[in-house]
Amino acid sequence: MTAGKLLNEAISSLRENGIDEPEANAQWLLSAVLKKNRAQIILNPETEVSPSQEIMFGEYIRQKKQGIPLAYILGTQDFIDITLKVDSRVLVPRPETEELAEYAAEFISSKFSGISINILDYGAGSGAIGFWLLKKFPNARLTAADKSAEALECAKENARQLRIYDRTLFANVETPNSLSGHYSVIVSNPPYIPSAVIPGLSPEVLSEPYMALDGGSDGLSVARLVLGAAGRLLVPGGGLFMELSGGDPLRLKHEASNDIWKEIRSVQDFSGQQRFFVAIKA
Ligand SMILES: C[S@@+](CC[C@H](N)C(=O)[O-])C[C@H]1O[C@@H](n2cnc3c(N)ncnc32)[C@H](O)[C@@H]1O
Repeated sequence: MTAGKLLNEAISSLRENGIDEPEANAQWLLSAVLKKNRAQIILNPETEVSPSQEIMFGEYIRQKKQGIPLAYILGTQDFIDITLKVDSRVLVPRPETEELAEYAAEFISSKFSGISINILDYGAGSGAIGFWLLKKFPNARLTAADKSAEALECAKENARQLRIYDRTLFANVETPNSLSGHYSVIVSNPPYIPSAVIPGLSPEVLSEPYMALDGGSDGLSVARLVLGAAGRLLVPGGGLFMELSGGDPLRLKHEASNDIWKEIRSVQDFSGQQRFFVAIKA
């Protein structure tokens, strides 16, 4: 069987099953099986696929037809310039979260350059934001906190692989009120989807952990906990960087106390949505 014929069959089959972006999904999966990049496969449709590779590709396509996210099938997700192991224990890190991590990194570079700092990643999941910051700032230490013990197990596997385990403390907590310490930066991508919206989400999103999605009745229940505790946990001049649903930073801004924060900002993501809540402690 050739790569081109196999791809065409897979694309038709994914399309018939209502899977979004059938071409890209089939190409990524075949590229993982053949260990070639997508362009090589597209440009060389006559490439021979062995029977064992064909079986593996068939299994990947079967999983994709069930709505399993590509990253779970492949077992990894790139986050800026690190690669994380991901599976059904954790949310698949999203591109907008890379932007949040980069804002936090700019803040650290401008305010705490070269200094040993403590960072808190609240709702760490796979560890994406916090681990990327640890790789970038060798003097930093991280507390990776999550309510899900399973997510923390996945985060530990990533920390070992990225060789930053000894700079990370793992905290299995339900609320930031259980944490103590002094942090220069708090990053958080809390669950922020209103509970009532969740049943209508795509099968891909619904195969991610419910706990990683559910932000309570108005989507802000965990974000409010983080904002409430951040004033106590941050050092003076420290910053809170939180990702929320489009428009929600403006809502949360009204709930932040002017006595604690010297600056509160809502920042747009690359698609122009008010997505990031940034607060700097007085
Ligand atoms: C949207 S995911 C973000 C995961 C990761 N930080 C990322 O950006 O890809 C939210 C994470 O918060 C965790 N979580 C949900 N409710 C929580 C709570 N009350 N306290 C701590 N963590 C919570 C979930 O288990 C999940 O790992």
